[in-house]
Amino acid sequence: MRWILFLIAIALASACRAPESGVDQTAQQYNEPFRPRFHFSPHHNWTNDPNGLVYFAGEYHLYYQYNPFGNRWGHMSWGHAVTKDLLHWQHLPVAIPEYVDDNGDSTMIFSGSAVVDDKNTSGFFPSESGGMVAIYTSHVHKAKQGLRQHQSIAYSKDSGRTYTRYDGNPVLDIGRKDFRDPKVFWHEPTQKWIMATVIPDEFKVNLYASKDLKSWSFLSEFGPLGDTARIWECPDLFPLNASDDPSMSKWVMIVSNSHPQGATYVGMQYFIGSFDGTSFVADRPSQYPLYLDFGRDYYAAITYDNVPASDGRTLLLGWANNWAYGEDIPTYPWKSAMALPREVSLRTIDGQLRLVQQPITEYKTLRGDEITDLAGNTSRSIEIEYSLVPGKATAGLRVLKTDSAHTIIGYDAERGEVYIDRTESGNVSFHPTFTGVDRAPVRLVDGKLSLTILIDQSLIEVFVNGGEQVLTTQVFPTGSGSGVELFSNDESVVEVRAWEFNSIW
Ligand code: FRU
Repeated sequence: MRWILFLIAIALASACRAPESGVDQTAQQYNEPFRPRFHFSPHHNWTNDPNGLVYFAGEYHLYYQYNPFGNRWGHMSWGHAVTKDLLHWQHLPVAIPEYVDDNGDSTMIFSGSAVVDDKNTSGFFPSESGGMVAIYTSHVHKAKQGLRQHQSIAYSKDSGRTYTRYDGNPVLDIGRKDFRDPKVFWHEPTQKWIMATVIPDEFKVNLYASKDLKSWSFLSEFGPLGDTARIWECPDLFPLNASDDPSMSKWVMIVSNSHPQGATYVGMQYFIGSFDGTSFVADRPSQYPLYLDFGRDYYAAITYDNVPASDGRTLLLGWANNWAYGEDIPTYPWKSAMALPREVSLRTIDGQLRLVQQPITEYKTLRGDEITDLAGNTSRSIEIEYSLVPGKATAGLRVLKTDSAHTIIGYDAERGEVYIDRTESGNVSFHPTFTGVDRAPVRLVDGKLSLTILIDQSLIEVFVNGGEQVLTTQVFPTGSGSGVELFSNDESVVEVRAWEFNSIW
């Protein structure tokens, strides 16, 4: 009997193999139908939130919530990949695995962030040159019951490849079962590290400060405000300039919570305000909620830390899936991808300051041939630049049009909305909450609507009017073909250009 169990264990272990060291996504030959060609996806197994987004020594790191043993949520550990250009990823071994305590409790490594401690404030590093420190939530559990969540740290002396957990962990414990997702940054004016964390069920972001990343003191709390239909997770707080007024600098708080369509789905909201080193205060509280993305597949986004000053962008990366149905999406042997990194800024729109997101311009280097025959298009990884001077009715495009399915991206003139209709997009039956229509309220700029549409096998991102609104939506087309068909019901004027994308692998 023992032998049989042993053999089963070996078979399971090899079926759920650990990530290969140094697998280069660019050298990988995948042939799965829904595998994105220019978005990050793990080689195999489940992922959710991006974690520890930080630039260090020529590499952008992406750690991510990862199950090393299966294609659904569980055994949460920090998976790892690096990129030099934000497009081509190299897969690396799990950086921080789950573990079992001396007393038999298990600890999963939940979401968090990473910083470069270049002044060696933590004292973890042999010299003043410093190194990388990860700040994560230790989720302590027994028999699938969550017992406690507190914040812990681990440090790396080998460019983020391996981490040593600090023996004084946890560094911040307020005795709660739910207290998580630390995002840490260096605040130059007060010469302190600042941590934003959530008390999920109280819809609050707590801020703490530290001189050494080890000892933290409470600063202030923010919330509840805006959308409180569902728990708050994965906060981030960062300064941001207005692209149309360089003298205007604000602080932005983003939080993952429920979706504009209600609490069945997760989504994200943002607040614009000021931060004095102690408290974040949102401008005009009556204007919230303001949503970050109107598609149903964008969550847990946080910004990159330590982006070189010569670059200067604020880069946001989010998980392209939704907890409502995410574990059931029909992909194998991996599950979930990241959206394309986005550059965020502020812009005054109809007299109000708003967050604007654009795909990093690097993606244009992947453009291949221009598509001249839209209907006969054969690629499922394409970009469409679409502009519309609308008439009175609905106009738009049917994309990923096969012999049995299509997805509609349209402008509804009556409602003043851009929408993505995935009701007939292919496989919609794997979960009852998946089918439906995503809608974003939009304006016309000088009578015109412009869409940048990025389609990547099973992922669609639509940037409206240079990123004033964004919709990120997954689809799982069935049938053969991948044509694009324009439709308009009246006198609207349409201009379209489209390109095929070269694959990153
Ligand atoms: C958000 C989240 C986080 C948590 C992690 C666990 O998607 O629920 O709050 O740290 O996922 O995987």
